Amino acid sequence: MASLQENEATIRISKVRYLQDKHEEVYNKVVKNSKKIKSMSLCDDCHQRANEGVFDDDTVVIPEYGRWTW
Ligand code: HEC
Repeated sequence: MASLQENEATIRISKVRYLQDKHEEVYNKVVKNSKKIKSMSLCDDCHQRANEGVFDDDTVVIPEYGRWTW
């Protein structure tokens, strides 16, 4: 458990910037104009396996848009 938390923190720190960029693009392209997605903070709207802690790009399905390819 201790190692898990440590690992998680590391991932957060190294990925925050990168994630913001990605999500900003998603937001501008899709979420801004969507009636279905209310907020970027509802992770499991798009990350189908967010409840398992899985955020790989092949588990992303965006409502009204579909799979994310870029
Ligand atoms: C509107 C849909 C949407 C929402 C809401 C959303 N995401 Fe994402 N997220 C994406 C897309 C699309 C990507 C890009 C996938 C890629 O390019 O790898 C992504 C990428 C990620 C990645 C990087 C995956 C990787 O390995 O590259 C993580 C981690 C992530 N999101 C976590 C979250 C978390 C945590 C939340 C909630 C606070 C969240 N996301 C909310 C759509 C969304």
